[in-house]
Amino acid sequence: MSKTKIFAHRGASGYAPENTLEAFALAITQGADGIELDVQLTKDGIPVVIHDETIDRVTEKKGWVKDYTLKELKELTVLKNKFPEYSAAKIPTLEEVLDAVKASGIQVNIELKTGIYWYPEIEQKVADLVKKAGMKERVIYSSFNHYSIQQMKKIVPEAETAYLYSDVILNVAEYAKNTKVDGLHPAVYHVKMADFLKEYLGSNLNVRVWTVNEKADMKWLIDAGVTAIITNYPDMAVQIKKRDVI
Ligand code: G3P
Ligand code: MG
Repeated sequence: MSKTKIFAHRGASGYAPENTLEAFALAITQGADGIELDVQLTKDGIPVVIHDETIDRVTEKKGWVKDYTLKELKELTVLKNKFPEYSAAKIPTLEEVLDAVKASGIQVNIELKTGIYWYPEIEQKVADLVKKAGMKERVIYSSFNHYSIQQMKKIVPEAETAYLYSDVILNVAEYAKNTKVDGLHPAVYHVKMADFLKEYLGSNLNVRVWTVNEKADMKWLIDAGVTAIITNYPDMAVQIKKRDVI
């Protein structure tokens, strides 16, 4: 069977509200090897798992995550989601997610959301929680902010890291190697534009492609032997990997 790991993007977010305990639990049930999640900091400096810098899209309120305390965020329900059966889902803290998935043995790709707003000491706070959970060996840090990844490497030199990017970067594999980063996390749409996969796979870096939601792309990348695909539909990818469906 292919060595490609299946990572659930924001949990099994094709079936449950993204970045919630419910979506992560479902990912485990569906057989994912890992989960991907996004981390921001609250006003009181607590790492919380939410994709956007604002709460507008997933809650009934508006505003920046950084302007809400954890207590205030916990009073909100993740209302705006397309899955009525999960209407009670809340925004989880990173600590809650790590506690919830620890026993399953899955890997966790923590995406540091330091693109629009670079939260003070987010890298240290996240690293502390991972250490407290005893999950250092199972975590991969990624970010579109490559300085943030370098900051994480200063704090935890042995941490597994990866550069996220959505546009094409010239000689990206060489760049990652020169800056001692372990992996490349490119967007699927750009991997498909030209023969970039050859360069990436030839580099021996870990290559985890996002967000792979089409069956044909899943099959192509699994056959190519990428390290992982990051998908909203882990059940589909698991089936394709097992050759249960084509
Ligand atoms: O980490 C892969 C992917 O999640 C990056 O994009 O916007 O979904 O966080 P985004
Ligand atoms: Mg993400």
